Amino acid sequence: MNKYIDLRNKNDFSELEYAGNIIKSGGLVLFPTETVYGLGANGLNENAVKKIYVAKGRNSDNPLILHISNMDMLSKIATNISDLEYKLMNAFWPGPFTIILNRKKVVPNAVTANLETIGIRMPSNKIAQELISYAGVPIAAPSANISGKPSGTNIQDIFDELSSKVDCIVDGGNCEVGLESTVVRVIDGIPTILRPGKITPEQIKNVAGIVKIDKHIFSKLEENEKVLSPGMKYRHYAPNSKCVLVYSKDNNLLVNKINEIAVQYTSPLILSSTENKAFYGDTLVIDIGSRFNLNEIAKNIFAVLRKVDSFNPDIVIIEGVAQEGLGLAIMNRLIRACEYNYVEV
Ligand code: TXA
Ligand code: MG
Repeated sequence: MNKYIDLRNKNDFSELEYAGNIIKSGGLVLFPTETVYGLGANGLNENAVKKIYVAKGRNSDNPLILHISNMDMLSKIATNISDLEYKLMNAFWPGPFTIILNRKKVVPNAVTANLETIGIRMPSNKIAQELISYAGVPIAAPSANISGKPSGTNIQDIFDELSSKVDCIVDGGNCEVGLESTVVRVIDGIPTILRPGKITPEQIKNVAGIVKIDKHIFSKLEENEKVLSPGMKYRHYAPNSKCVLVYSKDNNLLVNKINEIAVQYTSPLILSSTENKAFYGDTLVIDIGSRFNLNEIAKNIFAVLRKVDSFNPDIVIIEGVAQEGLGLAIMNRLIRACEYNYVEV
């Protein structure tokens, strides 16, 4: 039996000492961060880290992020850090920002999937920070989900698929952001976004003066194409049901297109903004949040994607948003949930 620590609405986190000890001694802990839940292990213990890959069914060539709670931990695992990289960390840590740096040898190959670089993040979630402090080591943690599924943003959503595979579950309620961190690597002095997230290109540009978005964020990979981040290669966030993502700058065109697609199916399900729900007649609808509040959509979207299969739809039609600000990250996840089945009108 694993241990369940309920820290919802609590200010005293001393129970995390137990979870920290589990990490130290090589076990697995499900824990909240401000982005999504993590499936954590001692990031300096090769055998512990290997358990993560088994629990998730994750391909061993897809590296993990190390989570730290202070800058002393950083200097133990990364080297040759440039001024610009420090500037970015100072601006966005603690927070939903992961930076790819040169690794030190102490980081096990299992964490980096044999790469010479390492992804590092200092989360802002207080429970995550305390857990790392109690563990006293960087915590390696991918998003808590079986590989390919939407990331877990609350314990209920991932309990069935992961609870039997971990030694301890820390419940911190719903994740604040709801989408995984922005992943950045500085290449030739230019911060390059490998995975969009809550920290937007505009914010990075404000700090660095320049920003680049890797082209693979939206394009489907050609066979054997080389990528800067292995995670780009894999099917992700996808429900079992067939999905299509629809977007238009013009809301009337968007609604009309979605209705036009819906009538071609027997049991369509529409993931609609709060404002547009009324325009879809009798078609089954799930509300994803206000189209004028992208924070709300980001926070809801993985939980909604996890729900859709239970309705047995023959098509899931998803309202897209503009690819600006946080919309870039939302659309990146949705386009992959739809396996690049995208319509723009
Ligand atoms: O918000 C988050 O980042 C969450 C929470 C738990 O912190 N974690 C997370 O981890 O999303 P994961 O493993 O699901 O995604 C990490 C992504 C993968 O796409 C991986 O390929 C990429 O980061 N990555 C990790 N290390 C890398 C490296 N050295 N070079 C390039 N990409 C890397
Ligand atoms: Mg993931």
